[in-house]
Amino acid sequence: MQTRSDVMREAAVLEHEEVVIRTGVRSGLPIIIAVHSTALGDAVGGCRMWPYPDWGAGLADALALSAAMTLKCAAAGLDFGGGKSVIVLPPGTASRDVDRRAALLDFGDAVQGFGGRYHGGEDVGTSAEDMWVARERTPWVHCLPVHHGGSGEPSELTAVGTFAAIEATWRHLAGTSSLAGRRISIVGLGQVGGRLAGLLAEAGAELTVADLDPGREELARTLGARWVDADTALTAEADILVPAALGGMLTGSLVPRLRCAAVVGPANNQLASPSVAGELARRGIVWAPDFVVNAGGVIHGTIIDMGGGTPDEARNATLRIGDRLTAIYGEATAAGIVPYEAAIRLARRRITDAAALRQAAG
Ligand SMILES: NC(=O)c1ccc[n+]([C@@H]2O[C@H](COP(=O)([O-])OP(=O)(O)OC[C@H]3O[C@@H](n4cnc5c(N)ncnc54)[C@H](O)[C@@H]3O)[C@@H](O)[C@H]2O)c1
Repeated sequence: MQTRSDVMREAAVLEHEEVVIRTGVRSGLPIIIAVHSTALGDAVGGCRMWPYPDWGAGLADALALSAAMTLKCAAAGLDFGGGKSVIVLPPGTASRDVDRRAALLDFGDAVQGFGGRYHGGEDVGTSAEDMWVARERTPWVHCLPVHHGGSGEPSELTAVGTFAAIEATWRHLAGTSSLAGRRISIVGLGQVGGRLAGLLAEAGAELTVADLDPGREELARTLGARWVDADTALTAEADILVPAALGGMLTGSLVPRLRCAAVVGPANNQLASPSVAGELARRGIVWAPDFVVNAGGVIHGTIIDMGGGTPDEARNATLRIGDRLTAIYGEATAAGIVPYEAAIRLARRRITDAAALRQAAG
């Protein structure tokens, strides 16, 4: 766990454009918004409402998640930058234990303070209905419920994009994208993991699944999946391991225990530290960069909600994640680097090109 001073030192070198930390006037909770970059356009990123040991840990998460959003948007070809919000709940509390409406109105005020340079949406611990509450304070929140004229839940496209990424990875490894009979282990059966499990079951994959919430076992049963505890799912013998819970699951101590050919999942910031990408490669395990795999949600939000595009346009843009990943695997092989590095190069090229274009335009 990072200490507060670690966080502040990192913040000093992370070059975020703007970070706001305030105590919500109604809720008394720490409200954090980190804008990492607007080089490609206004920053976008969801609002996480989650318990942390202290506000410093929430800040560390907001900094890391907003930086990942910059890479995600750039790699996905979107003209948006990276941002993220965190509403810090006290350790051990659930969001139902706090004055949720007060926290969301405080969040809306903080978003409004950015004057449109940052656009929020739902994330872990918040929902489309929550964004409707925040809308009372700012127009710069998106992914509202369908019955309020919004585009609704983005998890559907995140699952579709992750499915395309799994197919592309299996094609890279085995020469076929057919997932029939492939052993796939999913950790986290929430909004994305649950939908993805449905798509994989339809494709004939043999599923092993885990979730901390025992209420999700019913879905596992419906899909004919094997229900196990999280550690068993993480270390199960599998073709593909799918991290679909919170970030940081891929640790240096987990890598030697993995028994999968590839790791491809929607969870944000899966690597506990960047060096884990090399450790996975040394074990011959392909890791599909998370910020490429899970772009379906931000594609949904930016194309439909913010761009006025159709669901079909967003779906087609999401399906291109498979081809993008294939190109990243190709570039990594050609350059003798890990796919993570190739994906970062792709994202940075877009950001540099945009800056050069802007400079040329005066
Ligand atoms: N929702 C989206 O569109 C979207 C888009 C991009 C990235 N992501 C990322 O994908 C991941 C999942 O998002 P979601 O919207 O499905 O969240 P969610 O909260 O709906 O689901 C997460 C699930 O993981 C379970 N879980 C948490 N910790 C666990 C653990 N240690 N072991 C097993 N299960 C655990 C929870 O009980 C929950 O059911 C998150 O990392 C999120 O940031 C989501």
